Amino acid sequence: MREELEKLKNELSNKIGASRDLEDLEKIRVQFLGKKGAITLLMRSMNELPASEKPLLGKLLNELKQAASRELDERKLELQEQLRQKQQEAERIDITLPGRSILTGRRHPITLVMEEIEDIFACMGFQISEGPDIELDYYNFEALNFPVDHPTRDMQDSFYINKDVLLRTHTSPVQVRTMEKMAPTLPVRIIAPGKVYRRDDDITHSPMFHQVEGLVVDHGISLADLKGTLLLFAREMFGPERQIRLRPSFFPFTEPSAEVDISCMFCHGLGCRTCSDSGWLEILGAGMVHPNVLQICGYDPELVSGFAFGMGVERIAMLKYGIDDIRLFYTNDLRMLRP
Ligand code: PHE
Repeated sequence: MREELEKLKNELSNKIGASRDLEDLEKIRVQFLGKKGAITLLMRSMNELPASEKPLLGKLLNELKQAASRELDERKLELQEQLRQKQQEAERIDITLPGRSILTGRRHPITLVMEEIEDIFACMGFQISEGPDIELDYYNFEALNFPVDHPTRDMQDSFYINKDVLLRTHTSPVQVRTMEKMAPTLPVRIIAPGKVYRRDDDITHSPMFHQVEGLVVDHGISLADLKGTLLLFAREMFGPERQIRLRPSFFPFTEPSAEVDISCMFCHGLGCRTCSDSGWLEILGAGMVHPNVLQICGYDPELVSGFAFGMGVERIAMLKYGIDDIRLFYTNDLRMLRP
């Protein structure tokens, strides 16, 4: 019996020593100390022993049981510690790794250019006015002296919603809305930035684009005021050595009308690819407000006069940032938004 106990003790020690995890260990505990475990069974069989052997064997068996419990407990602590270390290792954070930088963006070039244009005119005393993108035919064409069915409307091939409503083809309707609201107050001195829509789509035309409209109405406003204002704008926007040039043109709502060019900032007027060897870049349409428009909007063309202009923001942004395809502004190219 003694030998048997000794063997059992060694076997237990070996098994505990070889156990790899808590599950292993639990199996061993059940195997020895569980209800049908080897040690438990031995204790039960004590009854069958002769009385003379009982005390000694009982003592030995108790000792074995205690030793077994102790060894199991010790190993359990060891294994728990091992597990904890393994988990910690797996969760370790290397605080010396460089951090993931947060992607910062910036405002879209179109927004930047619009804000720059607004700033320049704000410094000259202009106020900002706005109108709806979905506009009445009346404001987009009729009040701007475009006769019904006149071919001059074809210049701005349009998105009609119904006979009377369309996506505005230019920001000029804001001229009418503003004058209507202000008449007969003077001076009118506003710019109107916003989106406009035309049936165009190629590398220099987008079906949606941005314009900034300008309008000044007061006593004695002349073409010289228009020229001076635009020259100052061109120099603020594109550099102090810029010149401007007015070429005769036609718009139904201005008379006389002009296309306004600035001297090319890439070749300084010598001629290059950007300016098609002309030395000049067209940036806007302008003119003196047509008497019919003043009249319709509630101003007496005998007493007051005004000038107006409208510039394409994309065109200016393309020149400013050297972008050669207008579609790049609208195709979610992240380079547009990088700082
Ligand atoms: N609205 C004109 C266009 O979009 C531009 C313009 C504005 C011309 C104001 C003269 C005066 O082509």
